[in-house]
Amino acid sequence: MKALVTGGCGFIGSHVVRALVADGWDVTNLDKLTYASNLRNLDEIAGHPRYRLIEGDVCDPAVVERAVDGQDLVINFAAESHVDRSLLDPLVFVRTDIEGVVVLLEALRKRPNAAFVQMSTDEVFGTLPAPLEAAEDAPFNPSSPYSASKAAAELQVRAYAGTYGMAATVLRCCNVYGPNQHIEKFIPLFLTRAMRGESLPLYGDGRQEREWIYVSDLVSAVRLVVGQLPAGGGLQELHVGSGERRGNLDVAERICDIVERPRSLITPVADRPGHDRRYALDAGKLRAMGWRAEVPFETGIQLTAEWYRANPDVWGAAASAGFADYFREQYGERLSEPRPT
Ligand code: DAU
Repeated sequence: MKALVTGGCGFIGSHVVRALVADGWDVTNLDKLTYASNLRNLDEIAGHPRYRLIEGDVCDPAVVERAVDGQDLVINFAAESHVDRSLLDPLVFVRTDIEGVVVLLEALRKRPNAAFVQMSTDEVFGTLPAPLEAAEDAPFNPSSPYSASKAAAELQVRAYAGTYGMAATVLRCCNVYGPNQHIEKFIPLFLTRAMRGESLPLYGDGRQEREWIYVSDLVSAVRLVVGQLPAGGGLQELHVGSGERRGNLDVAERICDIVERPRSLITPVADRPGHDRRYALDAGKLRAMGWRAEVPFETGIQLTAEWYRANPDVWGAAASAGFADYFREQYGERLSEPRPT
């Protein structure tokens, strides 16, 4: 069986590419090699006979048509994914996250035998007051340019499934963490800075809540879904949620404890504009299909800390691509004017 994975050099994509190759799939990885891509994430399969990399853009119809041709399955991880960057440069999110999906869908429309899986996010629902959890039919209420782009992408998938009867699955996931994640994201940023004894810029009051899933649990969800794709066309929506909900301050404190650095490194700074307070997914539908999240947060965060400690050459390869400039733009003023605790 043949699969096209887009964005396979990124964090989640690289784990899924490796899993599919291990499962016997013939995998093509279409990746634009942006700042968030890291070839080192795929070191262990770089020369594998059932793996090939195409450097290209999901927004380029000619490249996508060629890449989609002959595939049984297309999984779309190609996306601009960092909320803070979507506040600095929203158009690139509209292009990759929305236009890219439409280009893929157009290519797939001409190949009715290929199934499509779109990676989406709990952020399409916006903030949810406790104790609410979003089920698959909850209304969209995105807050950031990033989440609005992901919601628009989903609407395009819905439109193609409805109009052309295409087989499509949308997976909405909570916050993923683990090895290979770019250090712009909260957990790896705080882990790597704490290890060096640097300040940890916590947005606002730090009481925002996120639902955290270790990356291997997301991979097991993808494996289950691609093994049970529904026969025939139409849209399937599934939530990948762990139930492991934590306040940001608690996560930051746990990170300091694990890397044996003082909690005083945590520096409250000006909040992210439009910052959602809380996300929570109801993953009952996926659990009814036989899936379970296996890795508790406490185990996952320790595994993640060990990986970042042991692999500075791997995550450092991505971090070198302009990260210092981004960090200055995003945090320079915030860290020079920390908020009182
Ligand atoms: O919920 C799923 C989403 O999780 C994915 O769709 C996104 O692609 C992914 O980036 C992530 O979005 P978040 O905005 O939740 O992740 P981030 O790692 O940027 O931030 C996690 C929380 O930590 C959030 O409440 C903001 C806070 N934070 C983040 C950073 C980078 C800080 O307090 N300080 C920081 O420096």
